[in-house]
Amino acid sequence: MNRINIIGAGLAGLSAAITLSENGALCNLISLQQSERAQSVLAEGGINGALNTMGEDDNVENHFNDTMKGGCFMADPNAVDGLTKNAPKVIRWLESLGVPFNTNDGEIILRNFGGQKKKRTAYARSSTGKIIMSAVIDEARKYEFSGNIIRYSHHEFVKLLIENNTCVGVRIKDTYTDKISDFKGIVILASGGLNGIFPGMTTGTTQNNGDVTATVFSQGVAFGNLEMLQYHPTTIGISGKRCLVTEAARGEGGRLYIERNGEKWYFMEEKYPELKNLMPRDVVAREMFFVRRDEKCGDTVYLDMTDLPEDIWKNKLSDLREEIIHYLAIDPKTEPIPVKEGIHYFMGGIDTDEYHCTNIKNLYAVGECTCQYHGANRLGGNSMLGAIYGGKVAAETIVSKLDKNSAFDDTIPEFTNITDEPLTDEASPVCIQEISDVLLSGLGIVRSERELIKSLELLNTLENKHEYNLREQNRITLAKAMLMSALQRKESRGAHYREDYPEKDEHFRKTAVAKIVNKNVVISYRELPERRANPNEN
Ligand code: FUM
Repeated sequence: MNRINIIGAGLAGLSAAITLSENGALCNLISLQQSERAQSVLAEGGINGALNTMGEDDNVENHFNDTMKGGCFMADPNAVDGLTKNAPKVIRWLESLGVPFNTNDGEIILRNFGGQKKKRTAYARSSTGKIIMSAVIDEARKYEFSGNIIRYSHHEFVKLLIENNTCVGVRIKDTYTDKISDFKGIVILASGGLNGIFPGMTTGTTQNNGDVTATVFSQGVAFGNLEMLQYHPTTIGISGKRCLVTEAARGEGGRLYIERNGEKWYFMEEKYPELKNLMPRDVVAREMFFVRRDEKCGDTVYLDMTDLPEDIWKNKLSDLREEIIHYLAIDPKTEPIPVKEGIHYFMGGIDTDEYHCTNIKNLYAVGECTCQYHGANRLGGNSMLGAIYGGKVAAETIVSKLDKNSAFDDTIPEFTNITDEPLTDEASPVCIQEISDVLLSGLGIVRSERELIKSLELLNTLENKHEYNLREQNRITLAKAMLMSALQRKESRGAHYREDYPEKDEHFRKTAVAKIVNKNVVISYRELPERRANPNEN
């Protein structure tokens, strides 16, 4: 039996690797960058779990309900059931690894986050991702030492090896030597979101360049809900990307306003008196877009944190303040900061069942590259949770199917010079930018049939402009699937808002599945399962 191959060494990949190791399985952890540079280190605000430490009578069912409602009831309820039931255990596990969550009298403090009626988000100041990753990376080291995990950092995914609809391994390239090797065995994709498809426009790391996703889509892997892009309401522009201003800023009392007739208009507070500035992200981002379009209003939305008490700046948002001063040369303690919506998360991705199995046998997918858990809109604080829990579920699923009588063959595959692998040619920056421009013209916060058809026509023109290399062609195909998914969803739900179909339509409360059939992109709809009466504990 071969080692299990994990593509991506962020939180989801690490969680899978650790769980496999805990169960005596061996794996390769393959990634373009070291874990320290994975997207997960950029997560700021926290991780959700109904620990009920704040005397608010919170429970797992509330977390389930908020997650389902936030996702506009488009997530798999059994998967969300497992996620929310296990969330407290995940946080306690992180605590046991030494993650220094903010505490009071030794008990984890929870903060308010968008779309949740109770305080449920555990945090370590406003650098939660970086702090969690340090602990999890260290835990993985234990298994690197024991030989359960072999790391292949600075190695690039080239393609899946698929035979008869079964994944038999993965081709990878050493980016230092340019040599290639075929690693046989089961594959778990944990390659993150599509940031590199939208250069400069997302809060995520551009190291997640989208090539893995585009390649596996062209290889026949099915994707779900590709139209669901999350715009985070509060981002600022920095060199080469958008920088997140954590939702925790609003969770701790920050307020959004725009100038209207010369006065500050706290539009979220007026329009949504219950959750105010902490409505789910899709709602806040859309309202920001609409007020800016209102001719009575100015063209900039501000985040006002000037009333936050000293204790919050000192103990809960110290690193956020530093970051804003660093990038904007504005002290948010004394001055409101200009903010804008920026692409932050991809709810759509590889289509998996609740156990993280894809449509290809022996291929699993976890973390942001999948469409699991978040439906049409992810709640802040559920992404690191989904990454850790999903990695664990995929690993446990694999372990449960391993042949107990067969030992791991631990021969290390050789790397050789292969010159005829067309998938190693990079996509050109010009082509990447052109595709991104077309996508953004159709997949904004507000969409319409007219704009989406125009974008698809532009993409067609681009496609016929000249010969593209394989990676470029794969990106064009993926872009087509994203636009077609958005065009065919004739309703508004979560992050997908159609000006021409502004209401939800129950008929579309389904997973939009995109797949290549006979070289064409085909979109179909899959019914969501019913919630089981006694869902599994895992
Ligand atoms: O705003 C934030 O801190 C983001 C958190 C998240 O996306 O989960």
